[in-house]
Amino acid sequence: MYEDRVVSGMRPTGALHLGHFHGALKNWVKLQSEHPCLYFVADWHALTTHYETPEVIQENVWDMVIDWLAAGIDPAQATLFIQSRVPEHAELHTLLSMITPLGWLERVPSYKDQQEKLADRDLSTYGFLGYPLLQAADVLIYRAKYVPVGEDQVPHIEMMRELARRFNHVYGREAGFEEKAKAAAKKLGGRKAKVLMDLRTKYQEQGDTEALAGARAVLEKQGNLSVADRERLLGFLEGGGRMILVEPEALLTATSKLPGTDGQKMSKSYNNTITLREDAESVRKKIRTMPTDPARVKRTDPGDPEKCPVWQLHLVYSDEKTRQWANNGCRTAGIGCLDCKQPVIDAVLAEQGPMRERAQKYLDDPTLVRNIVADGCEKARKLARETMRDVREAMGLAYT
Ligand code: TRP
Ligand code: SF4
Repeated sequence: MYEDRVVSGMRPTGALHLGHFHGALKNWVKLQSEHPCLYFVADWHALTTHYETPEVIQENVWDMVIDWLAAGIDPAQATLFIQSRVPEHAELHTLLSMITPLGWLERVPSYKDQQEKLADRDLSTYGFLGYPLLQAADVLIYRAKYVPVGEDQVPHIEMMRELARRFNHVYGREAGFEEKAKAAAKKLGGRKAKVLMDLRTKYQEQGDTEALAGARAVLEKQGNLSVADRERLLGFLEGGGRMILVEPEALLTATSKLPGTDGQKMSKSYNNTITLREDAESVRKKIRTMPTDPARVKRTDPGDPEKCPVWQLHLVYSDEKTRQWANNGCRTAGIGCLDCKQPVIDAVLAEQGPMRERAQKYLDDPTLVRNIVADGCEKARKLARETMRDVREAMGLAYT
């Protein structure tokens, strides 16, 4: 109905690294040719944890967009923008806050987890508690269908689904909703209307979700329905109201967890990253000094790849043949660790080459990036305003 929009954001709190590339950006690049995609710099979200050091955010906003472009995000396909330049996100956040039970926010696992993890900062703020609500506004304002995120974000997506449902339930009931829905059903013709009503009863009285899917399929095939009637009928089937906000789905990124240079997950807080456009000499040095299986003290000691973080990199970067060579060479002490690391170094450098090249254009002419983002902000705002018009009207704020 609202196209299959994809929305995702990233917090501008540091240079992006290869973990971001394999965990998210590669997927963003793939999605941009399959769906209308909106990708944004979540600067307000960064402020929830970095409110005392806003300069960190300032330094990283444009660099992060350059990293995206370097990774292959194409501004001719995807819409790139900055959250704070689309103030409608904040408006929707405020309006959603009226119907968000505090318990929903308090029970999101990342709330307590992050407070404990970032214990050096005072995160007992309203903004931090509201983090997932702001995120809900980011997505719901575009009536997005898909949100590509990592596993840790799934509870946030669950919460936004509940919020969309609650919003539609509370505000989706226009005057005479039932009558209008029934009139819309009639327009389908007597036989189809009866089928629809029977399926609705099955779903609402017996919780039969297949009946609901069947009823939706009937509507899907109905080409001559107006958008308003279709929405009414969808709301009527589910027992809620008109669908004003759309429930999004998480698109889980198949996580090939990239290890950092110490074998833990690659993360800025572990200081074990290789950044997207890191210079070649530094990449070589970092990989050459990576720890390996501690059993390989001498060159003649055989090792076990399962106990070695370099092997994890082979799993991401090497083909079958190279892996076999590394695996056998390690177990038989046929190769040394530096030999084993060389193909990984080569593969990382080969991956980064085109990224460095693409970035150069934008580093040479920063106005290119400013223009891409200005364009994106304008496009995003236009879409956001459409939803806000409906939301304001539904909440009785139109005052016509
Ligand atoms: N919370 C997300 C993260 O930490 C970033 C984010 C903010 C986001 N708003 C979003 C992701 C909306 C997807 C959709 O990774
Ligand atoms: Fe790790 Fe390769 Fe050394 Fe084996 S040979 S310990 S897999 S670096």
